[in-house]
Amino acid sequence: MQSLARRVIGRCLHRLGVRRPAPAPLAYWTERARAHGPRSVLNLGHAESEYEAVTMAQKRELFPHLARCLTGQERVALDFGCGPGRFTADLADRIKGRAIGVDVVLAYLDMAAPHERVEYRPMDPGRIDLADGSVDLVWVCLVLGALREPVLSRSAAEIARVLRTGGLLFVVENTSEQPDAPHWTFRPVAEYQRLFPWAALRHIHDYRDLGERISVLAGRKS
Ligand SMILES: C[S@@+](CC[C@H](N)C(=O)[O-])C[C@H]1O[C@@H](n2cnc3c(N)ncnc32)[C@H](O)[C@@H]1O
Repeated sequence: MQSLARRVIGRCLHRLGVRRPAPAPLAYWTERARAHGPRSVLNLGHAESEYEAVTMAQKRELFPHLARCLTGQERVALDFGCGPGRFTADLADRIKGRAIGVDVVLAYLDMAAPHERVEYRPMDPGRIDLADGSVDLVWVCLVLGALREPVLSRSAAEIARVLRTGGLLFVVENTSEQPDAPHWTFRPVAEYQRLFPWAALRHIHDYRDLGERISVLAGRKS
């Protein structure tokens, strides 16, 4: 009853052009994880039964590009905004080293499968609890679109801080030209390149997910 009333009020406010403030990303992703489990990190247009297939398809799209960017010297990978760790263990395997997955939502870290060379750590928005220059690879997959200022810039600065000089930044983000959703900002490739000027990100690939453009960028810390 209460939620019906809320929906009716929401619709009236919408018609009057009054927008409710979007929930803070942490509250939004906590609730989304609770409501939809691991599938919540996908576009919710995908059915629950598609979770594995979509994740496998993304690995097939992304890992060949990552492999071409690696030098073989990487030993520590950071999966920034790792969610339920869809890629974290693969990162450890691919660099034959270890990986650290960090996320602001504890429920996601609880969903992640244990792996002997992977550590999952909670983080506060805009703060990565790792030493300066302690990682060789930062992997960011479909996370930055969820961030707004000032957390977006703080997160970029933290990524710069923890990545060693010469380390690889690998970014995968939705760059579709469409209006922002309350929980997601659709930015063009150039905006992500400007966010990490020290990495000179190259736009190396695009693929489609439910018709939306997902762009892959990579560069090294100068
Ligand atoms: C679309 S999901 C992607 C998760 C994972 N990278 C993947 O591809 O499966 C977005 C993720 O961003 C995380 N997130 C939200 N705000 C964040 C922040 N300030 N710092 C780091 N991660 C954040 C969410 O908790 C969620 O796990």
